[in-house]
Amino acid sequence: MTYGKYPQVRLRRARQSVWARRMVAETELTTADLIQPFFVHEKKEASDIRSMPGIKRYSIAQIVLMASRCRDLGIPAIALFPVVPANLKDEEGSEALNSNNLICRTIRALKKNLGDTIGVIADVALDPYTTHGHDGVINGGDKVHNDKTVDILCKQALVLAEAGADIVAPSDMMDGRVGAIRKALDAARHSDTQILSYAAKYASSFYGPFREAVGAANLKGDKQGYQMDPRNTDEAIREVALDIEEGADMVMVKPGLPYLDIIRRVRDEFKIHVLAYQVSGEYAMIRAAADAGYLDYHQSMMESLIALKRAGANAIFTYAALETAELIRAKRVEECSFSG
Ligand code: PBG
Repeated sequence: MTYGKYPQVRLRRARQSVWARRMVAETELTTADLIQPFFVHEKKEASDIRSMPGIKRYSIAQIVLMASRCRDLGIPAIALFPVVPANLKDEEGSEALNSNNLICRTIRALKKNLGDTIGVIADVALDPYTTHGHDGVINGGDKVHNDKTVDILCKQALVLAEAGADIVAPSDMMDGRVGAIRKALDAARHSDTQILSYAAKYASSFYGPFREAVGAANLKGDKQGYQMDPRNTDEAIREVALDIEEGADMVMVKPGLPYLDIIRRVRDEFKIHVLAYQVSGEYAMIRAAADAGYLDYHQSMMESLIALKRAGANAIFTYAALETAELIRAKRVEECSFSG
């Protein structure tokens, strides 16, 4: 097949007006693509997060209000992360198994008020609950013990499912946890609870602002003993393959923009729903550059989200979900000329 030659061929002809560009656009971002993560804390008032201007920690009551706003805008699901008071943290993260902990109370409040009109995704990992900030229990030195951690994660997933979580999302990167969690859920008659596996989660410096947000910034060491090495791609394919076999309903690639190649490879190799996480550091970079007057916030945010979709993501976790959904709904094309 030949694509012809200039001057018979002029690709700019199809780019001349808004309608012409819309007519042939391959990728469209809709509100159904956006998942809003929320930080919930025990306080009544919302509090700012220094490294994520515009994002706040909310009370349970505020989360319910914000979630109903998300739902009304067409956002299909929200993801919850708890800010656990320091006095409830310990070496084993035992507060994670308390069926009346902050996150379980939040899930129950959401389900009571909003029913099945919006999906609730609950994180399965111990880092908000441990004094050392790791996603599991530490054995002897500074290594996270895989199998002991998996046992605890199964219990945590059960507690979350029991509280009403629609999707449990193991973000810890322990080996074998998806299969173990699936088994535990099924045995407790939670076979309808979905598992979103953070299958290809990289040991990334872009998680910094998140750790500040949940109060886990005092992490001892790093997470390279369980999260993936940024230099690797084939390993991500093995991780995803294993998680599919173990019963994952969806897989996550994380972070987002620095890992577009991984999203594309996973999309091409497997027939499974692929999610991308535009993480805290990605949000912070765009926000900070925009606040400094170096970038247009909405344009660069929209361009990043479209890039994640174009790479093959079925849905995107983004701190900008709500405001982006508002933008899409208002069809403010003058602000985001390529948004449709
Ligand atoms: C921890 C978890 C992290 C994020 C989601 N779940 C941080 C980490 O692995 O240290 C990061 C999300 C973000 O940066 O927005 N289980």
